[in-house]
Amino acid sequence: MIQKTVQCPNCHVILSCSGSSGDVVEIVCTGCGTEGKVTFEKLISTKNAAIEVTNLTKVYGDLVAVNNISFTVQIGKIFAFLGPNGAGKTTTVEMIESIRQPTSGNIKILGKDIKTSFNEVKEKIGVLPQEFHSFEKLTVKETLMYFSKLYKKAADVNSIIDAMDLNDERKKYYKDLSGGLKQRVGVAISLVNDPDIVFLDEPTTGLDPKARRKVWEVIAGLRNRGKTVFLTTHYMEEAEYLADHIAIIHKGKIIAEGTLDELINKYGEESILRIKNCDSGNAVDVLKDNGFDAHAEGNGDIAIKIEFKERVLDVLSILKHECIDYENIDIRRSNLEEIFLKITGAKLSEAE
Ligand SMILES: Nc1ncnc2c1ncn2[C@@H]1O[C@H](COP(=O)(O)OP(=O)(O)O)[C@@H](O)[C@H]1O
Ligand SMILES: [Mg+2]
Repeated sequence: MIQKTVQCPNCHVILSCSGSSGDVVEIVCTGCGTEGKVTFEKLISTKNAAIEVTNLTKVYGDLVAVNNISFTVQIGKIFAFLGPNGAGKTTTVEMIESIRQPTSGNIKILGKDIKTSFNEVKEKIGVLPQEFHSFEKLTVKETLMYFSKLYKKAADVNSIIDAMDLNDERKKYYKDLSGGLKQRVGVAISLVNDPDIVFLDEPTTGLDPKARRKVWEVIAGLRNRGKTVFLTTHYMEEAEYLADHIAIIHKGKIIAEGTLDELINKYGEESILRIKNCDSGNAVDVLKDNGFDAHAEGNGDIAIKIEFKERVLDVLSILKHECIDYENIDIRRSNLEEIFLKITGAKLSEAE
């Protein structure tokens, strides 16, 4: 617990409250009754850091492709680097992998500065590059055997084939696989040295929804096996589904960062509860009388803004108490697309 003192903006009484890192605590002034919220900033620990990036910049001629970014990836978590095409994702990930040289800034992997100790950490990372291709005329098993020979420490190829659910494909040529299977082979290749940290640059771009889901399962499985995953994507559903922590990058800068819940709490609108096909003409008035921000949508549905999840139950019990019938309910909360739109004014799917 962290203790914090704050001053009431109305009557200037000093108030004290306690909370944990990342909490937003509601507070009522003991002097004048003013209600407010106190935020306890999230303390980011570098103790369990898999990757620490500090003030990283990459300049190409007149273009600042990566503009003074800093972030930390915690061990055992899936970190999603989410942004539109051209945002600077690949440039960043390839600087961390030591494939590109930063213009300035520092990168540590597992506590080691990669400028001086990359050879030490090289064995601990696995990489799936963007738009990856492999040898057309090697089978899946031959492909994995080939790549595993490049490392001092090799994982058991058969267990990787099992984990990536590629058993039916082990004897098939790479060239004959579907896009989704090729990507799973790519993830499998990134695991041949049994790395602690896996970098996956846009692993599902261009895949159909079913193949994408399968790759997601495989990636979630990596976390279950204790790996740290650095994932870049321009699909917000992918970040929402997989990531423990999300950094949104736009035009070379990190514009927002946190867990999905933190991002939604900070930038999202309230959730909307929809009462579908409500049979009562006065339901909106009843809800308004009870302090809800409700309005009829003209098609029989009523939309109500929900600030706290407990308010959903309040709405439903009011409707029950008033014997107001309805067909169904639907609750929708903000998503990353809306958050991106709110911060940048552009749609994630359309921003370049
Ligand atoms: N080698 C390069 N030379 C010049 N510009 C580059 C180079 N690599 C990337 N860029 C530019 O840097 C920006 C970021 O690119 P990139 O990191 O590939 O973005 P993302 O992976 O998010 O799509 C883009 O404007 C891209 O055109
Ligand atoms: Mg890229």
